[in-house]
Amino acid sequence: MDFDRYDRVRPIRWDGQHLHLLDQRALPFTECEVICADADAVAAAIHALVVRGAPAIGIAAAWAVVMAGRSVQAGDGAAALAAIDPVLQRLAQARPTAVNLRWALARMRAVLARAGGDWQQCLAAEAAAIASEDLAANRHMGALGAALIAPGSGVYTHCNTGSLATAGFGTALGVIRAGVAGARIARVFAGETRPWLQGARLTVWELQRDGIDATLVADSAAAYVMRSGQVQWLIVGADRICANGDVANKIGTYALAIAARYHGVRTMVVAPSSTVDMATADGSGIEIELRDPAELLSFAGQRTVAAGVKAWNPVFDVTPAALIDVLVTERGVIAHPDVASMAQAFACNSIG
Ligand code: MRU
Repeated sequence: MDFDRYDRVRPIRWDGQHLHLLDQRALPFTECEVICADADAVAAAIHALVVRGAPAIGIAAAWAVVMAGRSVQAGDGAAALAAIDPVLQRLAQARPTAVNLRWALARMRAVLARAGGDWQQCLAAEAAAIASEDLAANRHMGALGAALIAPGSGVYTHCNTGSLATAGFGTALGVIRAGVAGARIARVFAGETRPWLQGARLTVWELQRDGIDATLVADSAAAYVMRSGQVQWLIVGADRICANGDVANKIGTYALAIAARYHGVRTMVVAPSSTVDMATADGSGIEIELRDPAELLSFAGQRTVAAGVKAWNPVFDVTPAALIDVLVTERGVIAHPDVASMAQAFACNSIG
């Protein structure tokens, strides 16, 4: 497939000194960068959703570790690790649900622990590898997932799982890119993804950029779209996949998976193995991020809800493995993931 034609957007750029983040809070009308000069600036950007999406958060954190190392004088990696440990801990706390953040930091720690005097170069090489492996995984998953889709199908996606959420190409959106390029996908529906509107502000913009036709719907229209027969697959990403196959993803995914099962629409979860957390047995062990209720109480900076009204704003939910028809990772396709199939595919996932 012609990757350049279908994948032009990049959210993260390392210039050798600074980390440039495409500010996703300002999209789609303003394309500007937040330029981070140190690790704490990256942690703040992750928390504020300047950069978002599980794999992208991990990549940004890896470059933050490179910047943290710049102010340290140490003869070997172990000494450097001791010096920057507080920074690593602050980065890990920037967002709690996506395991890719912890996974990337663990990779950076492991490299430092075994590095000698060239530890700074080792860190930079590892951050670059995390980014390039993610792009390669996404392209591979795109092909694997698209091959499961019958020509002429319609798909529904949620949140933003595209180039903006990864090193490039995307996870669920990567399958959609590959499926459109291969003429398997004829219709793409994107839910707006209240309250932060990742679908409305990011996904349909990203697809428009790449010339892929998509139709935006209100989240509350999803079951009706499925009932209409226009959609054969629900395709979503993941922020954490547990040892039993339970999947944490953007709030609303669980309701979509229930609606999909009821209507005979199949559910495909697409995520790199860096999103698999074999240390968490099931979804009950996942910390679900709660964000500021103000995200629900206003729209475009304008309060829309009466003063004094309370709101609760969990931004992820857990879809039980039983509702997932197919899990696609760069290691292959797992139909109906469960404890046994997850253990077989990810037994060697030491980090995560
Ligand atoms: O709060 P966000 O925008 O970081 O949430 C993102 C999602 O839930 C995505 O679906 C998930 O990270 C997969 S991105 C490839």
